[in-house]
Amino acid sequence: MKAIKLLLILGIVTLKSFADEGMWLPFLLESLNQKDMKAMGMKINAADIYDINKGSLKDAVVQFGGGCTGEIISNQGLVLTNHHCGFSYIQRLSTLEHNYVNDGFFTKNTTDELPAVGLSVTFISRMQDVTSTILKGITNTLTEDERQSQIDKNISDYKTSLKKESYEAATIRPFYNGNMYILIVSVVYTDIRLVAAPPQSIGAYGADTDNWVWPRHAADFSVFRIYADANNKPAAYSPSNKPFTPKKSLNISMSGVNEGDFTMVMGFPGRTNEYLPAIAVKQTLETNNPLKINIRNQVLKAQKSYMQNDATIKLQYGSKYAGIANAWKKWIGENLGLQQSNAVQKKLAYENTFTQKINANPSWKATYGTLLPQLNELYKQAEPYFYTRDAFNETIGNCEILTQGVQLNNLEKLLEANNDEKISKEKLAIIDRMKGFYKDYNTKVDAAVLQQVLTLYFNKVNTSYWGTTTTQIMEYYKNDITAIVNDVFANSFIINKEKLESLMQQTDNKLIYNTLINDKGYRLANALRQGFVVNAASNINNLQAQINTLQRQYMQAQIVVMAGVRNFYPDANSTLRVTYGKAKGYQAKDAVTYAYRTYLDGVIEKYIPNDYEFDTPQKLRELYQAKDYGQYGINGKMPVCFIAANHTTGGNSGSPAFDAYGNLVGLNFDRAWEGTMSDINYDPTICRNIMVDIRYVLFIIDKFGGASQLIKEMNLVTVKK
Ligand code: ARG
Ligand code: GLU
Repeated sequence: MKAIKLLLILGIVTLKSFADEGMWLPFLLESLNQKDMKAMGMKINAADIYDINKGSLKDAVVQFGGGCTGEIISNQGLVLTNHHCGFSYIQRLSTLEHNYVNDGFFTKNTTDELPAVGLSVTFISRMQDVTSTILKGITNTLTEDERQSQIDKNISDYKTSLKKESYEAATIRPFYNGNMYILIVSVVYTDIRLVAAPPQSIGAYGADTDNWVWPRHAADFSVFRIYADANNKPAAYSPSNKPFTPKKSLNISMSGVNEGDFTMVMGFPGRTNEYLPAIAVKQTLETNNPLKINIRNQVLKAQKSYMQNDATIKLQYGSKYAGIANAWKKWIGENLGLQQSNAVQKKLAYENTFTQKINANPSWKATYGTLLPQLNELYKQAEPYFYTRDAFNETIGNCEILTQGVQLNNLEKLLEANNDEKISKEKLAIIDRMKGFYKDYNTKVDAAVLQQVLTLYFNKVNTSYWGTTTTQIMEYYKNDITAIVNDVFANSFIINKEKLESLMQQTDNKLIYNTLINDKGYRLANALRQGFVVNAASNINNLQAQINTLQRQYMQAQIVVMAGVRNFYPDANSTLRVTYGKAKGYQAKDAVTYAYRTYLDGVIEKYIPNDYEFDTPQKLRELYQAKDYGQYGINGKMPVCFIAANHTTGGNSGSPAFDAYGNLVGLNFDRAWEGTMSDINYDPTICRNIMVDIRYVLFIIDKFGGASQLIKEMNLVTVKK
């Protein structure tokens, strides 16, 4: 707890204005950031952003479906998020006859709304620093295991004594690599219904070519509605549920922001690594990213070759392809940015300063002197293991028969243990899980993917990690990967809905067991899994645990030793954060400067008839020709997207962008190419987040989609400049 007090004090003293970098904790804004935010132009107070006694902005910001952010835009429970965040639900609700992906979906009435099964949104009731309670009894003499069990005990004691409502959930999460603990009390709603979505040609305009790139022209939004029970509390789907009444719904500004204006983004950023040692950054750049990019290159090529010529496959694989392509392209951009910004050199220079400072201070030297040398040694040892981990994860994760096969291992274990009750449950769970799977599965596509990932796996991963069964399989097929793939796809029950379901309905467990362990698909997936588990996993876990311990200590050391050299905010961990920075363009490279805003003119410039990425709906072109922008245009033009220096990452998709008054002005959905390395090395000169202008969203809902009744639910305001 001493560290945290120190942190707060240091933070106040050393927060370097103006802090474009940083994902700040909403409940610490008043003490840490308010002054800086006001100096940058903010006109509201920290208490308008986070307050547990009255409705504040944080009450209108939700975690959307686990991986994204959304915001409440009406007092009848409308939630706005990105198109790509709603995409998998839009796709699952679509058929070739009712193709909401291609045609869009705009309700006229609440009765048209479609339940999005499996979707949930989470509100944050409150957050609180509980470090001193959770780290009670923790001393430097404890082993890591002792330390962790003391922490687990403290957490469980704390939770037992915690007062909260029955419908609230409480979690306690580590921050700053375990130097700080925060209590998060939340409420989860699960009856969520699709209300509106633009056609993909508007919502994901530019698709993969434009992804991660500025200038951008997509209206990356979709609209859902939260439903609650008669008491406005969370409830499972029921036709009798009512639209949720929020504590706070956002005001929506019709005035936009100009270049240089204050902006703020609030949301649930997933994961960043801003405090790694140089050697870890070097390994990401030179070893892990190239491997992952390479594997996904092949997966994407294989999927695309089928999607191009087949509308059914295109619909089945659209969401999966976009997900695989999204990380693939990000890693490419990240590597370019790490190179261009000399990230490894910068980290080394930072480590030099760190070492000089501790060498000049005997007590620091005694406490922190061995941290960096030890981290370097561990990362060196871990390099081949982490490489193997990535190869394994990418192989299993991108090939569906392997993903499903590995998951069947649980059933094998239960069958071996003869646990009848659990076996019955597992069989039902498998049937349930696989139902959705087959709707979007095509064996030709997956066979092509398997061919690619196996070829790479056997080429790239050292034989010492394969394991005996995998080696036997390769010997049996005389290293002929095509023969393996053909045999698997000719025989496996995993890829056949009827076969799988009829097997799971068998009562003869012996028969199920024998079928399972002799299945060609299961055998392959399980052989790969076993090879990895036996030969790599325990070493990986062990090395990772040691690295985590040292990284926790190094984090604390940096906060103490490097105060004033940089700002310290906790790395992203899917918890609610606030980031702020001004709307502005940037210089991408020599003589290339980008403006901060795009217009509908750019959509028309990029238009390529019948192209799968740059086609546009005729109605949108007609509205453009007629300049029929309603109340949403400015000076005869329709603003589309804009950028600002807000520090965001994956998970911030769908996050609200606010102006100086806390009005909604945009919807965050991406970062600009040159700055995608910001998860590891934020550089304020070129890191920009990309937002769709809220006026373009409203224009599409109203003038394009004709859902003007939704606009009437919202509170539109104008700001005098
Ligand atoms: N790059 C953005 C993010 O990381 C948008 C992804 C969705 N768009 C796409 N073309 N895949 O989520
Ligand atoms: N598109 C990202 C997401 O899904 C946000 C962009 C980013 O990574 O910054 O969260």
